[in-house]
Amino acid sequence: MTTSLVTGGAGFLGSHLCDRLLSEGHRVLAVDNLITGKAKNVAHLEGNDSFRLIHHDVTTHLEIDEPVDNVLHFASPASPIDYLELPIQTLKVGSLGTHNTLGLAKAKGARYLLASTSEVYGDPLVHPQPETYWGNVNPVGPRGVYDEAKRFSEAMVTAYHSAHGLDTRIVRIFNTYGPRMRPKDGRVVPAFIRQALLGEPLTVFGDGSQTRSFCYVDDLVEGIWRLLGSDVTTPVNIGNPNEMTILEFAHRIVEVTGADVEIRFLPLPVDDPKTRQPNISKARELLDWEPKVNFEEGLRRTIEFFRAMEG
Ligand SMILES: NC(=O)c1ccc[n+]([C@@H]2O[C@H](COP(=O)([O-])OP(=O)(O)OC[C@H]3O[C@@H](n4cnc5c(N)ncnc54)[C@H](O)[C@@H]3O)[C@@H](O)[C@H]2O)c1
Repeated sequence: MTTSLVTGGAGFLGSHLCDRLLSEGHRVLAVDNLITGKAKNVAHLEGNDSFRLIHHDVTTHLEIDEPVDNVLHFASPASPIDYLELPIQTLKVGSLGTHNTLGLAKAKGARYLLASTSEVYGDPLVHPQPETYWGNVNPVGPRGVYDEAKRFSEAMVTAYHSAHGLDTRIVRIFNTYGPRMRPKDGRVVPAFIRQALLGEPLTVFGDGSQTRSFCYVDDLVEGIWRLLGSDVTTPVNIGNPNEMTILEFAHRIVEVTGADVEIRFLPLPVDDPKTRQPNISKARELLDWEPKVNFEEGLRRTIEFFRAMEG
């Protein structure tokens, strides 16, 4: 049986990844210190003999007493609210945490997959962003702790690949949404859905002309699964290229929820990227992957989850 270890396995993306790996017949070890994740995200896996949740901070030494075939490093505060509140932990998990988990993969002879981010492109000067773009990041800006931790992680993974011959993968994840996001994690999808369901005004930063593209979690997990099984060791963007302005997005949320709410404009945060859209040619060509879930459908499934949570 293949054993996969997922750091951050009790988080939003990590828990969906655990579900998918289990459904593919893997044994799954989720390692999480629950700093931003929740045991509830994997509570449905309790009693499954192929699953184990290990409470551990991956910035400290990690000892696993069984064979491991894949290490998937997803642990990291990931929303702007989280990494602004946890700047040192974010830098540590992207540096020490990446180093420790690479060491574990090397000791076990495992394949290693890093969850990187579109934030490595910073406030991009190239649009849409291909993997060959090096980015425009302010290292001392408020987002620097996250962006630079991920850039360091990518460099460390690449060094383990070239110096130790470790079998590595790097996925650059663009904005993803779906069930198990936290309503107050500061990301725009849960924020708007929560506000709409509570009948509160939707808060748009700036004039709402900044763009984002949102990928439904099942599509993302499919892309990660294909990347893991491929032989592509260079970074691959996984995200949905369907771009829209934040204002347009706010109107779509109002439509789908049927909420009777207004839109309120607030000042734009420092270093907020103006545009964000993946170029997914590489994933299309090498992984035969592209997003399948349409936006309204993804939104409906996410809203259903939020409604059930509120109720
Ligand atoms: N959600 C997105 O749109 C998105 C976009 C780009 C990249 N990513 C990356 O995907 C990964 C998962 O993000 P998410 O959205 O699921 O966030 P999340 O906060 O829901 O999950 C992160 C998990 O990591 C755990 N964690 C953090 N530090 C840890 C540590 N030191 N030791 C052990 N566990 C630790 C948290 O408790 C949490 O369960 C992150 O690495 C993030 O950078 C996510």
